[in-house]
Amino acid sequence: MSKDIEIVRTVADLRQRLAAWRQEDRTIGLVPTMGALHDGHFSLVDKAVQSNDRTVTSLFVNPKQFGPGEDLDVYPRDEVADAAALSERGVDLLFAPSVEEMYPDGAVTAVSVPGIGDLLEGGFRPGFFTGVATVVAKLLIQSLPHRAYFGEKDYQQLCVIRRLTKDLDLPIEIIACPIVREPDGLALSSRNAYLKAEERQAAPALHQALINSGKDIANGAAVSASVAAAKSELLNAGFTKVDYIAVCDPASLEELENVTGQARILGAAWLGKTRLIDNIAINT
Ligand code: PAJ
Repeated sequence: MSKDIEIVRTVADLRQRLAAWRQEDRTIGLVPTMGALHDGHFSLVDKAVQSNDRTVTSLFVNPKQFGPGEDLDVYPRDEVADAAALSERGVDLLFAPSVEEMYPDGAVTAVSVPGIGDLLEGGFRPGFFTGVATVVAKLLIQSLPHRAYFGEKDYQQLCVIRRLTKDLDLPIEIIACPIVREPDGLALSSRNAYLKAEERQAAPALHQALINSGKDIANGAAVSASVAAAKSELLNAGFTKVDYIAVCDPASLEELENVTGQARILGAAWLGKTRLIDNIAINT
């Protein structure tokens, strides 16, 4: 049964609602998002609703995690549809602050996570993880939930958030949620909306290339050869540029030359103007 969602736009209102719940000993789950919600987001929301007495979703397109020339201005936004869908799923509170509310004039403090935040995505999108870590740290501190939910779709982001939560002693459990995919394997993403018809057809090749690479490695192929094969597979499938395919330690994200045990294969590649990321777990 759905209940009406309440929308708050200020940190003060958010804190007031959450303080009241905490006083009543309710457990609280937080699901941070940038909106344009799809089934990937909803899988996090459903898990939060199931496991907590109260669920808060945040909707904030965070300018600090967009680089110059990136898609901040055209990022899809539909708060009315998002709020209705969240209400339907049993979310209690939507926190949808303005940029001024999140970053009032003079806000300069940033949270950076060197090392794990500099690799892979961090190398191709300078400043990205500082933007993510800053807004996520703020959201966690503003709401102090018992649990916060993040998708493995953004696997490196999840690792960065685990690190900052630990380093800043935030008493919050970070819950990782599996990637939700289209039937053809494409990971759901708000940015898939940018894909033209023929790009959309080529897009599942990213997941497929990761799977093939994982199988090759499990069968004893050298990591470097399997990464090279995955890159050419993507270019042959119609991808226009490959930023990286990397086989990494699942916790530190250090690149591995040999895999014994668990690893994560992560990839980022372009279809025209759209950049897609994906990753899979492998276990040899
Ligand atoms: P956004 O891209 O809106 O994603 C919000 C959350 O949904 C993230 O934790 C992301 O990993 C998860 N998610 C997105 N697509 C998914 C899929 N196909 N399967 C499973 N989970 C998926 O990630 C962000 O926003 C921002 O960086 C944010 C953390 C909100 C900070 O601004």
